[in-house]
Amino acid sequence: MVENITLAAFLMQHLQGEDRIALIKMLGDVAEASKKIAGAIDHGALMGNMGSLATENVQGEVQKALDVISNDIFIECTQQSGYVAGMVSEELDDAVEIAEKHHINGQYLLLFDPLDGSSNVNVNISVGTIFSILKSTNKTPALADFLQPGSAQICAGYALYGTSTMLVFTVGNGVNGFTLDADSGEFYLTHPDMQIAADTQEFAINMSNYRFWQKPVQRYIDECLQGEEGDRKKNFNMRWVASMVAEVHRILVRGGVFMYPTDAKSVNGKLRLIYEANPMSFVVEQAGGAATTGLERILDVIPTGLHQRVPVMMGCKSEIERLITYHQS
Ligand code: AHG
Ligand code: MN
Ligand code: MN
Repeated sequence: MVENITLAAFLMQHLQGEDRIALIKMLGDVAEASKKIAGAIDHGALMGNMGSLATENVQGEVQKALDVISNDIFIECTQQSGYVAGMVSEELDDAVEIAEKHHINGQYLLLFDPLDGSSNVNVNISVGTIFSILKSTNKTPALADFLQPGSAQICAGYALYGTSTMLVFTVGNGVNGFTLDADSGEFYLTHPDMQIAADTQEFAINMSNYRFWQKPVQRYIDECLQGEEGDRKKNFNMRWVASMVAEVHRILVRGGVFMYPTDAKSVNGKLRLIYEANPMSFVVEQAGGAATTGLERILDVIPTGLHQRVPVMMGCKSEIERLITYHQS
């Protein structure tokens, strides 16, 4: 083990400020939810719970899809801390209200995508959970309380269910990554102060959408593909996992850019603003990267709906700046 610091010890040592106690509790609950979701994914095929579609088990009983199971686990593990006043999930049309008597210690909002990249579950490829924490000004949060820009987040991160289970998050002073030791059930600090490399030769985008993209994105990718012979004068590599959590994690570890831009089929892109793009943008910025819609910093976008979509380009700062320049010209 790189460092023998548990998540609990790290939180006690490193969290400061007025939200300290609340964040220790809520992050502990998110870690617990991640462990349980990892377990549900591990047992997916054995239990007949697969993918993003409900399936039948051998007794002919309809099993819940794993994204619904993950949603239930996440809510179950996080709603009773005494701090959470309301939740928004990708899996639920409306916000989850937590009765006032259950948030006696604070008024925080938890926004999450319980299972990101869920189409990967059937093929045994990495998936994740994304979460964002905001403060609520209302004891009974109204819709407007959830529609805060990403810059108001006090904490955000993700769990990655990959070759190992990891929890990566920021509270606004850098990004730290923890790996689950399945034997002890503890998360240990394995990736302190994660930083996105200043240079990269790797991009991630669903190339099958090329003909639907706008000119600035086509230009950027064309130049990457021209390699040493083109303006960029270097060869690029490409990856596409179809799980944003896995892509962003790879970018934190070895650099690169991730894009799900606007295209002619989906003019606002595919990813959701408040529980996918915002938390990942906060993490990426805190690791020295940048995140844009092409026209605007993602964290500055004022949300208008719980499930609003937004074009996403994030990762290596200089590449994002290049993409912004292409969008401006
Ligand atoms: P979700 O499983 O929560 O719906 O999100 C999947 C998202 C994102 O994680 C990934 O980058 C993208 O969808 C993949 O889209 P394509 O299937 O179009 O490649
Ligand atoms: Mn998702
Ligand atoms: Mn999802």
